[in-house]
Amino acid sequence: MLTRPDVAIVGAGPVGLAIAWRCASRGLRVTVHDPAPGSGASHVAAGMLSPVAEAYFGEHELTALLAESAARWPRFAADLAEASGADVGYRADGTLVVGLTADDLAEARRLWSYQQGLGLPITPLRPSELRDREPALAPRVRGGAVAPGDHQVDPRRLVPALRAAAGRAGAVLRPARVGALSDVDAAVTVVAAGCGAAALTGLPVRPVKGQVLRLRAPGRGAPDFRHVIRGYADGESVYLVPRDSGEVVVGATVEERADTEVTAGAVLRLLRAAVDLVPELAEYDLVEATAGLRPGTPDNAPIIGPLPGRPGVVVATGHHRHGIVLTPVTADLVTELIVTGEPDPLLAPFTPDRFGKEPRWN
Ligand code: GLY
Repeated sequence: MLTRPDVAIVGAGPVGLAIAWRCASRGLRVTVHDPAPGSGASHVAAGMLSPVAEAYFGEHELTALLAESAARWPRFAADLAEASGADVGYRADGTLVVGLTADDLAEARRLWSYQQGLGLPITPLRPSELRDREPALAPRVRGGAVAPGDHQVDPRRLVPALRAAAGRAGAVLRPARVGALSDVDAAVTVVAAGCGAAALTGLPVRPVKGQVLRLRAPGRGAPDFRHVIRGYADGESVYLVPRDSGEVVVGATVEERADTEVTAGAVLRLLRAAVDLVPELAEYDLVEATAGLRPGTPDNAPIIGPLPGRPGVVVATGHHRHGIVLTPVTADLVTELIVTGEPDPLLAPFTPDRFGKEPRWN
């Protein structure tokens, strides 16, 4: 029977569960509160670990955090496999960034030139080099680049593994909704509730809708391509994430909306772009079309650290497009903050107090 816990975590997505696992492994008494673990953004997420291809203009501090967390992933995956007995599908085949038409290639090149300027590992390839690496690409593809350090995991394997690891370390799951911070009683409360953090904390976290498809290779063999492919196709941006199971995740729209309807138009655009880049996908089964809500923030970066004016409340949310890649570093930094009381300098750009002048959004 658990008495008052040291740490109560609101939200059992990858971030909340990883914090639970890490804190429980340090000997803290931990509860995790969520009526439907793993049913938020991670259920829809493709699982790309993309510190290079997702290094966008003007996001230097976020780019540095993505690189830091991606570097922690191999160790995190190995520790998790040992602690849970489960494999999370970590794959290091690298990512190809490609453009279908000359215009698409110009757009892709503009971003990878910026990424190269930051010193990030991304290398342009001639069309023949591209097809040597990935013969499944359409002959029409005009060119691209390789980011060998951009990897992937399977978020639908990650969540059960984290649940198992957290549970084995002693964390207790409470399958109930937390409507207000006063609903939980612990020395420290961690808000890792994705979009739900807005109502709990008043911080400027907003839902950003993403529609995602899941295809399956015929005969249930692995897809004929190994790399994650991020493509521009007639102005559409799409990514294709192949898994050993035969699944290919095709994503994703980015919509400033809060509903989770799947629309015919989005499915059409995603499929057209996917098949234009990798024609064999037309023969795959379409097994799932879903929509999820990314927890967006005004500067696209996560919110991690003590909640101003609320002693004992720590926030770990707003991971927007990067929840899976940022899971290890978020868990490590929050755990250290709780155990030592000292914020790591890495946290400085991401603390909740940076939004002093933003309107509260709840
Ligand atoms: N990071 C992929 C997405 O947000 O769609």
